[in-house]
Amino acid sequence: MARVAIVTGGSRGIGEAICVALRDAGMTVAANYAGNEERAREFTARTGIPAYKWDVADFDACQEGAAKVAADLGPVDVLVNNAGITRDTTLLKMTYQMWKEVMDTNLGGCFNMAKAVFPGMRERGWGRIVNIGSINGQAGQYGQVNYAAAKSGIHGFTKALAQEGAKFGVTVNAIAPGYIDTDMVAAVPADVLAKIVAKIPVGRLGGAHEIARGVAFLCSEDGGFITGSTMSINGGQHMY
Ligand code: CAA
Repeated sequence: MARVAIVTGGSRGIGEAICVALRDAGMTVAANYAGNEERAREFTARTGIPAYKWDVADFDACQEGAAKVAADLGPVDVLVNNAGITRDTTLLKMTYQMWKEVMDTNLGGCFNMAKAVFPGMRERGWGRIVNIGSINGQAGQYGQVNYAAAKSGIHGFTKALAQEGAKFGVTVNAIAPGYIDTDMVAAVPADVLAKIVAKIPVGRLGGAHEIARGVAFLCSEDGGFITGSTMSINGGQHMY
């Protein structure tokens, strides 16, 4: 039986590349998305991968969404917590709402989704959870106290849950992408982005597929001895 995977924020950007990589590795994949129905329809038409709409910041919606995927495709073996948003600005200008949205989606989403699928993985004695962190959670970033805190939290969450899953065959790892060629990075002002790219030793933005390859490896059968780790894929921008 093919493994069943849920990828949150799976209908575009890094999430889409992860869905495709897991499908190409032989898994049955469900992409979760939050709101952009047109992009989700295009994604399914392009890839043949079904897309399910729910908000990862909503605990009950995660329970219902994961149950729907399991009813349609089978018990969930693999979870990739990829959904993330930015609300960048300096602390002086950041509202409580901007803080809360980012914390609830980027970090709260990992908790909500793990609560939905980790118990089943543990009972069945096999599971893979990969959480998408960020170089900015490792190094910090001007204008991102919310995002950096949430992504840094993901790295702690990963190491703690890895300890709880280890003896049940459930691995929990993180990938910390650097600046990847996606809509999220394209939203950074061009002059600011040019300065950031100038500091990447490899000399370019990363490709979404370069993150997806790492996720697929961590989710493979051969990944069973890797848990609680963070794979940094950032072109050498931050060596951690
Ligand atoms: N270090 C030190 N000072 C900085 C700085 C930095 N990195 N960036 C800006 N400043 C300074 C400016 O020089 C300026 O100083 P003066 O007032 O003395 O001239 C001051 O801070 C204010 O800067 P701005 O006028 O640019 O302030 P702003 O409010 O218009 O914009 C910002 C601030 C929104 C943070 C903008 O600089 C920005 O978008 N930065 C990029 C943030 C970023 O990298 N986001 C990543 C998004 S992608 C992502 O998150 C994916 C991932 O995981 C990697």
